[in-house]
Amino acid sequence: MPSVIWRVAAALVLQAPPPQAPRVQAHQAQVPLAHTPYTGVKSVVTNVAKDAIQVKNMIMKTFATNIKYSPGQYVEGLKIVEVIGEGRYGICYLIADGKDLRILKQLKERIHHENPLNIHYEEEILKSLKHEEIPKFIRKIEDRHLTGYVLEYKQGITLESMIFNQRHVFTRGEIYFIGKRLISILIYLHEKGIVHRDIRVPNVLFNGNDIYLVDFGSARWIDNNKYKADIDFSYLGDFLIHLYYTSLINVSKEDKPWYEELALSSKNRL
Ligand SMILES: Nc1ncnc2c1ncn2[C@@H]1O[C@H](COP(=O)(O)OP(=O)(O)O)[C@@H](O)[C@H]1O
Ligand SMILES: [Mg+2]
Repeated sequence: MPSVIWRVAAALVLQAPPPQAPRVQAHQAQVPLAHTPYTGVKSVVTNVAKDAIQVKNMIMKTFATNIKYSPGQYVEGLKIVEVIGEGRYGICYLIADGKDLRILKQLKERIHHENPLNIHYEEEILKSLKHEEIPKFIRKIEDRHLTGYVLEYKQGITLESMIFNQRHVFTRGEIYFIGKRLISILIYLHEKGIVHRDIRVPNVLFNGNDIYLVDFGSARWIDNNKYKADIDFSYLGDFLIHLYYTSLINVSKEDKPWYEELALSSKNRL
């Protein structure tokens, strides 16, 4: 382990507040030392040792949780089949969990530093949901090597990949279909008091028949103050325009607003 880590560990331990010496009453002072649970000196040593172990574990975990696994490797008895996506906070793997294909979402350590509650929300919210178009939460994995979730695998391709890799041109029918299904998922979420806050093309999967909404890392309980349901509809608007843009075959070099670039009927423009 690099020496800088030990220096950080030592600095953290040294910054710990000075332990308070236990107050000894006059009559207790006669108790023989061997029978006293601990003395001031002993507790200092014990606390420093405990702090050092905690700091060391924390640092070891920081390094371990940022390991990226490769196909064929085993993590907690789960076989990595494929790395299917990596975002700011997580890496998603397709895994073989016994007979089932599932998703392992490994959380990156930065999530703990930026907002440790993020993990808590994603888990709590996913556990509260029961909807065919949202992956089920199977279990949480938390040990020295990895913090993450095992989720139901929803088969499909992200709309992001359809747009940028497959160069798919969405027909109006497809856009209406996807939009309608997403609205019904959002109504379900909002009725449950949940706002998703990240309705974007990498977080929606499509398999020709069904759509699935994934990534509840930004989801929150609606409080009508900081977290309002409306934000999902603002994202949805951008999302649908994104799909509509794929129908632009000859993108003009002129810098025009989107509503002039797209071939919208006068009814669509209203
Ligand atoms: N349950 C799932 N089933 C199938 N693919 C999934 C599932 N969850 C995530 N993915 C895939 O993994 C990618 C990253 O997952 P996501 O939860 O969006 O992580 P991040 O928070 O890093 O963006 C998604 O874009 C999608 O391709
Ligand atoms: Mg995502």
